[in-house]
Amino acid sequence: MQWVVENFFKDPDLVMNELISYWHPGLQSILDGFIENSIGNFPIPLGVAPNFKINGKVYAIPMAIEESSVVAAASSGAKYWFDRGGFKAEVIDSKKIGQVHFKWKGDKKLLFESFNDIEKHLRNETKDITATMEKRGGGIHSIKLIDFTDKIENLYQIKAEFYTCDSMGANFINTILEQFAKSLKDYAISNDNFKNGDKDIQIVMSILSNYTPESIVHAEVSCHVDELENGKTIKNGKLFAEKFNTAIEIAKQDPYRATTHNKGIFNGIDSVIIASGNDFRAVEACGHTYAARDGQYRSLSNCEINKGIFRFWLDIPMAIGTVGGLTKTHPMARRSLEMMGNPDAHELMKIVASVGLAQNFSAVKSLVTTGIQKGHMKLHLSNIMTQLEATAKEKLKIIEYFKDKTVSYSGVKAVLEKIRS
Ligand code: MEV
Repeated sequence: MQWVVENFFKDPDLVMNELISYWHPGLQSILDGFIENSIGNFPIPLGVAPNFKINGKVYAIPMAIEESSVVAAASSGAKYWFDRGGFKAEVIDSKKIGQVHFKWKGDKKLLFESFNDIEKHLRNETKDITATMEKRGGGIHSIKLIDFTDKIENLYQIKAEFYTCDSMGANFINTILEQFAKSLKDYAISNDNFKNGDKDIQIVMSILSNYTPESIVHAEVSCHVDELENGKTIKNGKLFAEKFNTAIEIAKQDPYRATTHNKGIFNGIDSVIIASGNDFRAVEACGHTYAARDGQYRSLSNCEINKGIFRFWLDIPMAIGTVGGLTKTHPMARRSLEMMGNPDAHELMKIVASVGLAQNFSAVKSLVTTGIQKGHMKLHLSNIMTQLEATAKEKLKIIEYFKDKTVSYSGVKAVLEKIRS
């Protein structure tokens, strides 16, 4: 830390004190333990989106995010659908995937014919590692041999599927895969049929896949188009539904729009994923691959209007957990999970997907009605007033003044100066 402040800052003493001021008095050693070369903390706010009715149960959702308007949009989406039946969510499956990539120059037929035997050997050799997970109802689901030689010379994969109960399962899966790799090599060396011994099986790498299309959750909302009306921004439900549907169609067909559209979904998803101590990079990577599963990047959410019923839904794969990783070691992750009623992994998947859908609904609703700048500018104005150290009284006057005007830093500054003079 000394080295960093002395070499990269103009005023090392000032910066040192500033960095130290962000240290947490009770928890710093725990936080430092999460990563390497820690020099302090980078605070981002934790917000709450109330009124989420999911499968009839009402939640307050913790959201860790630095972007203004996201929590407001999730909350307004939740409240809107609260009065229209809430979110229905369902986990379709929660199978995770891992691969051992290896090269084999020998006889393809022999490899495939031996694979039943190899699979038994791999299962046998990983019995001790899987015992506890099996007791909890998970473990290795399947082990397959994949021929990848048409894409990369001599390359094969062991593709294994796992159930990891309430944990995301990365450590469990990677430990098993590395054992698979060793056991595969041993099998080849000690088996006479593999005449060239270990020269022929070359392990390239063993690692889980963050693409888990079979660990997938569905969330949806629906109501009659007339019920979409809210007396404010939506005066004609049918018209709104049609416009909304077109917006989804655009995001289905145009990757430029699809990227922004899905970014909006991940505004909600990432916030809950971070708050609950899960790995948002894994969830994002998985979602984006899924969005491009047919070769073109498309919207993750879907919409239909059928016989007057508006239906809006999201199918999204994710591998997340409520035990292991940071979920219990990060104090705020622990509290976030408590706020949501300590869900298991499946319940958390349903919550996360519903928040993503609410976020997306609010964004697209704003886009096809008022535009998003109105909401953004409210918070922008509040941030500017805070920066300019306006008092509560001054703030009320400024808000009144900007009710029907465009907000800008210089404009707010000028109004504040006028009030003060
Ligand atoms: C901003 O963070 C997210 C939006 O751009 C999403 C969207 O356009 O759908 C509002």
